[in-house]
Amino acid sequence: MSRMKIGVLISGRGSNLEALIKATQAADYPAEIVLVISNRPGAKGLEHAHAGGIASQVIDHTAYADRATFEQALDKALRAKGVELVCLAGFMRILNADFVNAWRNRLINVHPSLLPAYKGLHTHQRVIEDGARLTGCTVHFVRPETDDGPIIIQAAVPVLTDDTEETLAARVLAYEHKVYPEAVRLIAEGATRVRGHRVQIPAATWAVEGLINPEIPGDVD
Ligand code: GAR
Repeated sequence: MSRMKIGVLISGRGSNLEALIKATQAADYPAEIVLVISNRPGAKGLEHAHAGGIASQVIDHTAYADRATFEQALDKALRAKGVELVCLAGFMRILNADFVNAWRNRLINVHPSLLPAYKGLHTHQRVIEDGARLTGCTVHFVRPETDDGPIIIQAAVPVLTDDTEETLAARVLAYEHKVYPEAVRLIAEGATRVRGHRVQIPAATWAVEGLINPEIPGDVD
């Protein structure tokens, strides 16, 4: 089986990277991580790459005169490894349109909200302040607008009355770790087709389950 070569871009903790590494360790997983790049020298996520025996590089954005030259260095490193799909996993740098367009439909991101709601930072805090009952996470193809782009997969997660930013973030993160490897699998298997702003997944079979929060006893069989 030839596996799709993926590159993962991180800035920090790297728990989504860790989830992707675990997924790729299964013999029948259709993708492999050939390169991890961090824009921060001390990123904890680099330890996951080392532990998994995966090539990693630090491309420190502060060492570059501007965003364009930093992104040229990213692009060069990814191409040198033959990367076919780039996964942003807690990569906290905005990417210019030149880079995004060069990797169009081969660049994906995980975001901690049900997009298009709650783009940007501090999603969980804003969800709690707004009193929303449901939030979640989204894996999407990246477009030049921040947190925009065709949605591949989402998970909805309840917001509980006593939630703090930390408890809600942890509940959502557990689902990020499920949906991100699944999105990569779907792409690597050739199951995704981007049509305008929508992603068609003709080959997939879905377990369709509604989620109502709070639950309505007896409402759903
Ligand atoms: C994740 O919650 C991810 O969704 C978020 O940063 C965290 C990174 O965690 N990304 C964004 O907010 C991007 N807009 P990780 O480093 O442990 O994977």
